[in-house]
This record gives sequence, structure tokens and C-alpha cells, in this order.
Amino acid sequence: MSTNGSFPGTRPRRLRTTPVMRRMVAETRLHPADLVLPAFVREGITEPVGIGSMPGVVQHTRDTLKKAAAEAVAAGVSGIMLYGVPEESKKDNLGTVGTDPDGILQVALRDVRAEVGDDLIVMSDLCLDEFTDHGHCGVLDARGRVDNDTTLERYAEMAQVQADAGAHVVGPSGMMDGQIGVIRDALDQTGHGDVAVLAYTAKYASAFFGPFREAVGSSLKGDRKTYQQDPANIKESLRELALDLEEGADMVMVKPAGPYLDILARVADEAQVPVAAYQVSGEYAMIEAAAERGWIDRDRTIMESLAGIKRAGASVILTYWATEAARRLAV
Ligand code: PBG
Repeated sequence: MSTNGSFPGTRPRRLRTTPVMRRMVAETRLHPADLVLPAFVREGITEPVGIGSMPGVVQHTRDTLKKAAAEAVAAGVSGIMLYGVPEESKKDNLGTVGTDPDGILQVALRDVRAEVGDDLIVMSDLCLDEFTDHGHCGVLDARGRVDNDTTLERYAEMAQVQADAGAHVVGPSGMMDGQIGVIRDALDQTGHGDVAVLAYTAKYASAFFGPFREAVGSSLKGDRKTYQQDPANIKESLRELALDLEEGADMVMVKPAGPYLDILARVADEAQVPVAAYQVSGEYAMIEAAAERGWIDRDRTIMESLAGIKRAGASVILTYWATEAARRLAV
């Protein structure tokens, strides 16, 4: 009775019978090398400070950051993305400490480079929001609007200072028009032709960034809707992709990841460069919170969320679970 292509001759369950069978036919494999650890370093503290909305994630001291970087290397993680949290009194309307060679982020970049050399790709958040007293990613004009072109001048300076401090990769996250080109030029003109630009290509004005704002002690009131993208849009992301590639992006990123897997898949289809995805603070917090209540299996949910991001097309995944997940993948 059986015929090709139909039941009962055709039984997809045959390929799901044993763990090794399932492993053999898996279409997607996560690897520690796919992972990048985002990490926060805070100025003026002597002990790490926990982040309430991100259980398990801390604001590092300079020392504990170095340890976290070394642990990431040992686990086989490929990179670390650094965010600096300055002393509150040092914030101003231009985000001046963001370009101070002795600012916390630059100090941390030098520390981490000294610790890991080239064994970990050291990435640097290139944005002003951690350093401005208004919490926006750019400089404000007289009417309080984020001024694109003045901000670009700050970003150019930031690129140079971060590269001087040892960043292998800079990650412009401010969503200003023209930022990739300006940063590429600034790097090339200051002898940093080897420093790569990871463009936050499709970054959405997302509620999933909520816990991050606590993590960096953000001063933001209001929102970022005049520069980050509308969650309703996909063509806009493809347009940003074309522009970023034209301006010289070495890698592109979609952020957040989980709620934007359709965007990730489209970008991965079209981009001729590696595509990264950022599993953001709110995605982390949701899983941790539900697991804490016993509502989901924490470890399985984490690995499934990462597998989904990889399957959708990311070749690089930024996740706060990077070191933990890499260790689990190694066993
Ligand atoms: C901006 C920046 C943000 C995140 C990374 N870079 C916050 C924002 O745009 O409001 C969010 C990361 C996360 O939520 O994990 N410098």
C-alpha cells in the first residue's frame, strides 16, 4: 500500500528516534564561537553591583570585568561588548567622558585588552547615552531635539578614542543617519584601518531595553523614537542595511533578537557580511523571571532561545548568557 511521499510509508518521526539520530540531522548547531558577552563596568565601585532586573548580571569593577573577560575566553566565547557606567556627577549634555581617554569605558577597554590580548574580540559600545545627563544617544539642539550631525562629530571622536584604547570592533548603537560612514572615515584617518565596525543596522525603539536602562544607570526620560526604528517596520530595516553596507559596515546587527526574528532572517538573506543579533536585557529578564517562578525550565529555555536566533540567520549572537551557554555547549 505504501507510496513515496505519503503516510504511512513516509514517517518523519524516524529521524527523531534517538538523541544521536536527532543530533546527526540537526540543521542548526550553536557553538561557543558564535557568542559575544555584553558586560557593564562601573566607575568608582569596589565590589560588583547586582542589577535588580537582570539577576545574575552585574555592574563590574575594573577587576571583576577582567575576570569575566578571562572566563569568557576560557569558555570559548568569541567576544565581549563593553558598556561604561560613569560616576553620575561626570555626566553632561555632550557626554564628555565618553571621549575622555581616561573615561571609564576607555580605561576598561585598555584593561580588557591587556588581559585578553587577541584571544577575545573586544568590542565597544559607541554611543553617548551612558555619558549624557539627559540620557539620549546624541547631542541635543536648542529645542531639545537630538541633533544628528552634531552627534556625528562626537561619534567620530569616540571612534578614535575607543580604537586608541584597544577596541577591535566598535559598535555604534545610536541610530544616527550617516554614522557608519563618519566612523569608518574617522578610524581610517587616525591609523585605525584594522578596527571593524559592527553596525546596529536594525535597532528598534523597544520596550525590551528596559532592564538595560537600570544596568547603565540611564538618565533618560521619554523615549528614542526619533532615532530608533518603529517596531512595525521591515522595509525600513532593509533600507538601513543597504545604507550601512554602502557606508562600510563590516558586520550588521539586528536588535532585539527574539521578537525580531523575521527581520533577522531577511537581513541574513540579503547581507553579504556577517550578521549579528542581540538578545537584549528584556529578553534575558523575562526568561530569568519566569524561571525563578518555576514557570519554565530555565536552562532549556535559554538554549532554545539561542537556537532560534541562530536558525533565523545570526552568525554572531550577543547574549548575557554567553559564558554560561558556551560552557554548557562544551560538555
Ligand atoms: C545604547 C544601547 C542600548 C542597548 C544597547 N546599547 C539601550 C538603548 O538603546 O536604549 C540595549 C541593550 C539591552 O537592552 O540589553 N547605548
